[in-house]
Amino acid sequence: MKLPEHGSNPQYTYRAMDISMPDQIVDLSANINSSGPPDRLKKIWQDLLEEIVTYPDPHSVSLRRKIARKEGVLEEEILIGNGGAELIHLIGRWLAHSNVLIIHPTFSEYEKACRINDCTIYHLLLEENDWDFGSKKLAAYLSKVDAVFICNPTNPTGVLYSASKIKEIVKEAHKEHCYVIVDEAFYDFPLEEVTVAHLVKEYSNLLVLRSMTKMFSIPGIRLGFLMAGETVVKELGNYQVHWSVNGIAQKVGEILLEETDFVYHTKYMVKREREKLFAFFDQSRFDYSPSQTNFYLLKDPDLNDQTELFRFLLENGIVSRHTQNFKGLDGRWLRFAIKGKKEHEKLMDALTEWKSRP
Ligand SMILES: Cc1ncc(COP(=O)(O)O)c(C=O)c1O
Repeated sequence: MKLPEHGSNPQYTYRAMDISMPDQIVDLSANINSSGPPDRLKKIWQDLLEEIVTYPDPHSVSLRRKIARKEGVLEEEILIGNGGAELIHLIGRWLAHSNVLIIHPTFSEYEKACRINDCTIYHLLLEENDWDFGSKKLAAYLSKVDAVFICNPTNPTGVLYSASKIKEIVKEAHKEHCYVIVDEAFYDFPLEEVTVAHLVKEYSNLLVLRSMTKMFSIPGIRLGFLMAGETVVKELGNYQVHWSVNGIAQKVGEILLEETDFVYHTKYMVKREREKLFAFFDQSRFDYSPSQTNFYLLKDPDLNDQTELFRFLLENGIVSRHTQNFKGLDGRWLRFAIKGKKEHEKLMDALTEWKSRP
């Protein structure tokens, strides 16, 4: 059995590695906020049941209105999706047969969505020393391609590029009639809120994606949204299945948009835990990516391929995300989500044991 394409569902990872899954595990393979979902959602859960007896609003009007107010864009500039993943696949369909640039390592669904729609894909592989795409390197592609995907902060490195850097690319791409898709699925986690969403009014070639599943810990509900010019939103919406976003998801989205304290506390918790972990990695000679978000790459510099460490951690009940299917990483790193103190104590104990092997 092949290793799973994404984090989460650890039973598949254990099966693929032919290891029996312990009763207690710490799952650090999916980048989901461990302090969620917010209490408010738990309290009103019963009331949401009334949503299941009617068809959902196919235009998600009420949710779009709330997002528009929060993000400073028009309702017509928003498309709600059944998770960010659905929106990526709608974009893939919309880009069918065109030339697309993907910057690696990155979220594998961009390539999948483009590949199944017969796009010609160009790949820009980032160097491990700084994970930077360097505006000049990227600019060289803009005249060749119809669209470029940028993930910010980037999954899997956690590196956050400045809004001015992204704006520069959007501006250059605009001159070349090239679309820029900026996936801000992890926008909520860094202390500094870096976004280019406000630029959709100015640049008709810009599409900004968000996911609500990570911060609010609702990956099972499926909710994301896209911000772009009205024409692009309409075109993408034409490909969407009617009622694609269910009524519970729409209501939950409206409630969660108001959870600003929850987001604030999570940001500080993530920063605190990340700093603690990185100090430990420095001390115990592990390499890591300079993440500013809720996950990071890690490797033992004594190994090239990290499978041995991956296996050791699984045997000790700790699930990380393999990087075999991240182009440019090919198993040389492991990705870990930032969770809470307890989970990290277990991780640090296991890594200490790993380093003290005879
Ligand atoms: C970078 C990135 N974008 C989008 C998504 C899709 O998220 P969802 O479909 O849960 O909203 C993910 C999920 O892992 C992701 O990592």
